[in-house]
Amino acid sequence: MTTAPDLGFTTLRWADGKLLLLDQTKLPQIQEEMEFETIPPLVDAIQRLCVRGAPALGCAGAYGMVLGVLDAEGREQWSAALKESASLLSAARPTAVNLVVGVQHILNFGEGLLAAAAAASDKFDVDLATAKLLDQAIAFHEADTASCLAIAENCLPLLHDGARVLTHCNAGALATGGLGTALAPLHLGASRGMNFQVYADETRPLRQGARLTAWEMARNGVPVTVLPDSAAASLLASGGVDFVIVGSDRIAANGDVCNKIGTFPLAVMAARFNVPVLVLAPATTIDPFCPSGAEIPIEQRAAEEIFGEDGAREGVEVYNPAFDVTPSSLVQHIITDHGVFQAHGKGCEAWQSYVAGLGNDRA
Ligand code: MRU
Repeated sequence: MTTAPDLGFTTLRWADGKLLLLDQTKLPQIQEEMEFETIPPLVDAIQRLCVRGAPALGCAGAYGMVLGVLDAEGREQWSAALKESASLLSAARPTAVNLVVGVQHILNFGEGLLAAAAAASDKFDVDLATAKLLDQAIAFHEADTASCLAIAENCLPLLHDGARVLTHCNAGALATGGLGTALAPLHLGASRGMNFQVYADETRPLRQGARLTAWEMARNGVPVTVLPDSAAASLLASGGVDFVIVGSDRIAANGDVCNKIGTFPLAVMAARFNVPVLVLAPATTIDPFCPSGAEIPIEQRAAEEIFGEDGAREGVEVYNPAFDVTPSSLVQHIITDHGVFQAHGKGCEAWQSYVAGLGNDRA
């Protein structure tokens, strides 16, 4: 059985009736947890990227649904709180589909409990229902942890000892309920004695690569070098990279990959220098109902992220999309917890039937 290396931190957890999140806005300088007992501060924390990364958002959304019903008294209040929580949490950030998947999973489960009690003409036991909802949220989190390990195992045979990997943003343990997606095979391989050299794009404007990926890799003893995003072309041109490996916030049915802004130009550059691009993501990141990347909603973020606290500059507009879309044709493999897929060209049939199956499961 695969066991994950212990990286010495927990991105999110439930304890004593509260949700605890490692505040990622303070990393790497300060390692501090935030506590949540209600939904509005959690929505604010999601929007400020205290918790971020698509799978971690899914887990936070699932736990958030439990917070939403904690104070409900009686069936009517519980039912209304469940629906209200789902709409507040789903709208917190628009791009990562995992957030909606996590929230919807708990909403469906809660509505099932309500329906079962009504069908049996039973009194609705609010405390019992809330305890069952929490069990579901924990199970969702545990499934994400398991997905990370499966992604790592599925990817590792493609990597060789000494592989030099360029990554963008943070798709590691900080971005998931487990070991990560893009970084998971590196963490796992390192724990088995494999050697890697990781190059972490700084990832402007919020610097998830410089702040988070570098911290995470260094903690696990994996050699890591941070570079400005603009240095990726010269690094690739020098022949110093064997693989570009990234995560994703939403993968469309045709295999187009939405990820942190800057992933698309990186994939274009990788194609120019014949470096394969691998996208690692759990099934919860795939949106079978989104036909192509053109339909993925792209979050636009504040001017302050570009200009700093002094904010707006007179007469200057800001274009600050948080994500971009890489066409499927630029991606060598999409590696999920279920296997290794090619989403374009000859050999894409396995991908197409996989996505159709996910659509049936989620319908
Ligand atoms: O804005 P963020 O920090 O939430 O963006 C995160 C990313 O783009 C990650 O690469 C993606 O969620 C994959 S995480 C396993």
